[in-house]
Order: sequence, then C-alpha cells, then structure tokens
Amino acid sequence: MKISWGGLDNFPHPLYNAGMKNETYVTDRVALPKIGLGTFRIGPEDCERTVSAALQGGYRLIDTANVYMNERAVGRGVRNSGVPREEIFIASKIWPTEYKYKKAKKAIDATLSRLGLGTLDLLILHQPFGRVDEAWRAAEEAVKAGKVKLLGVSNFDEDDLEKLLTYCTVKPVLDQVECHPYCQRRALSAYLKEKEILLESWYPLGSGSAGLFAEQTISALAEKYKKSPAQVILRWHTEEGFLPIPGTKDPAHAAENMDIFDFSFTEEELSALRALDKNQRFFKMRKGVQKYMVFLQRMNYERQK
Ligand SMILES: NC(=O)c1ccc[n+]([C@@H]2O[C@H](COP(=O)([O-])OP(=O)(O)OC[C@H]3O[C@@H](n4cnc5c(N)ncnc54)[C@H](OP(=O)(O)O)[C@@H]3O)[C@@H](O)[C@H]2O)c1
Repeated sequence: MKISWGGLDNFPHPLYNAGMKNETYVTDRVALPKIGLGTFRIGPEDCERTVSAALQGGYRLIDTANVYMNERAVGRGVRNSGVPREEIFIASKIWPTEYKYKKAKKAIDATLSRLGLGTLDLLILHQPFGRVDEAWRAAEEAVKAGKVKLLGVSNFDEDDLEKLLTYCTVKPVLDQVECHPYCQRRALSAYLKEKEILLESWYPLGSGSAGLFAEQTISALAEKYKKSPAQVILRWHTEEGFLPIPGTKDPAHAAENMDIFDFSFTEEELSALRALDKNQRFFKMRKGVQKYMVFLQRMNYERQK
C-alpha cells in the first residue's frame, strides 16, 4: 500500500528509508515499518529484554514515551540487539505537562538523552491538551536542529488536527489513537486519509481483551488461515492501512505478532471484520475529563532504571 505525504515539499528532514526488513508503508520521503512494538506498562527489565529480542526477530519500530518510564531500557535494548541503529525507527512522546515552549525543549532533549540513541526518528505529542502550539514549535525546532526526524501526534481528533494544520510548518506523519476491531475509528480514519496522515493503532489487540480474541468472526478466520486471533486482528489493521504497535513482554508473542504478512483476507472477510465495529473503547476516560486529569501527572522521568 502506498501513502503519499503530498504537501511536504519543504519538509526539512532528509529522505528516511533505512533498510527495513519487514513490510513498510512507503511515502515519497519516509518508510515506516507496517508493524511496531509497543512498550506501555512494561517495566525496565522486561522492556530491555523484549526490545532486543524483537529487533533480533525483525521488528524495526519501537514505540515508547516519557511517561512509560522505560526510555532508558528501550535505549539499552536497542544497543544490545546488535541491529544497526540506522535500521531502527524509534518513536517517543512528551506529555502535556511539558508543552510550554521552554519545558518542551528541555523535555525533548531529556528524552533524547535517556534513549541515548542519537537522532530520534519520531517525536509524538502524547495528548491534544494544553500548549500544543508551543510544544509543536519546540518540536519543529528539534527537527530543524537535526535532533528529530519526524513529528507525530497522539489522541488527536479531527478538530485538534484542524487547529494544528493551520500553523504547523512540519506536518505530522501519523496520529496514534485507540483502534481495534471494536473501535475502528471510521470518521477519523477517513479524515486522516484525506490529510495523508497515517493512523497508528494503540490498543491494537484491545489491550489483550479475551472477549475480542474469542469473537466468532475472528476465531473462524484464525482457524481458516491457521493463525492466532492476535494475528488475525493485527493483519486486519495492516489491511486497513493502519500501523499497529502491539505491546508485549513475551518474546514469543512479539514473534507471533509480526508473522502476519503471509495471508490476506477476501473482501467478504474484511466486511465481516468491519461489521465488528461498535465504537467500544477499552480506555474509558472521556476526553472532557482527561483534559484535566493529564495535568495531575507528575512524574520524575529521570528516576527510571
Ligand atoms: N498514545 C497513547 O495514548 C497510548 C495509549 C496506550 C498504548 N499506547 C501504545 O500502544 C501500544 C499497544 O497498546 P497496549 O500494549 O496497551 O495494548 P495491546 O497491544 O492491545 O495489548 C497488549 C496486551 O495483549 C497481550 N498480547 C500481546 N500479544 C499477544 C498475543 N500474540 N497473544 C495473546 N496476548 C497477546 C499482552 O500480554 P503479554 O505481555 O503477555 O503478551 C498485553 O496484555 C502500547 O504498548 C504503547 O506503546 C499508546
């Protein structure tokens, strides 16, 4: 599948197309792996071990965030993996408590320093709350200074993106949002497609929901293709043009989750999977509440192993 990032003619970062081993979404300026490894709620030891094993097994995209308190572990996992740094796509995020311009500049440098991997491939604004404009300015400066290659957003709805697109000079390459067969984000995904912004799915496995895995349509397809329910769900994401970043601390699950590129669904099967959409989120907090809750987050990110 080819997604063009049109409108990026003046994009300041160099062509990014390091020899990715698994399938990629290719644009005129960037190649992104079709699947990545998520690291939310994974402690430092598990994180370091799983990141190394996943990279050795062929993963090329790792997703972390300053609030996950495992950026240092991701850095160690990458360095221990033996995989050349330039083949790996690392994404991290900063939290709204650090969106004011000066704080954002410091937060970006601190993330880079904890990872210890040189240039960051993708910097994401974790939430659409607070001084997004100031954080974006700091992020754009980090791109211009060669510290960061690409910018992205997370949990942005159409209206949040509309606002950002009025003033950004570096366009976000992706929006990382909750997305899985029970919550397929149809309106947002149509909007993102029109804006040529990739949808990256968090909770791609419904946070490991047993109910989703046991869903009849999914188990029947798993049976037919001799795959696990997790593999059926992840393949669905890639067939929709979404980029899933399943989280796991189990290297066997990490390997299983990437082994999804040797089968594809018929149109009828895709329709049956689309019919599972019921706008059911696994993350329950409403945006209006979250808008205030995010500012209660006070972590010392330096206190991680
Ligand atoms: N931007 C945001 O606001 C945001 C929010 C949440 C998450 N994220 C990102 O998205 C990533 C994915 O979300 P997530 O990790 O929370 O949820 P997820 O990927 O939907 O599900 C993870 C759960 O599924 C289980 N699992 C993984 N592979 C499996 C397999 N093959 N078979 C059976 N169970 C399997 C894992 O357990 P095991 O460890 O036992 O495999 C874990 O309990 C995160 O890690 C993070 O990077 C972003």
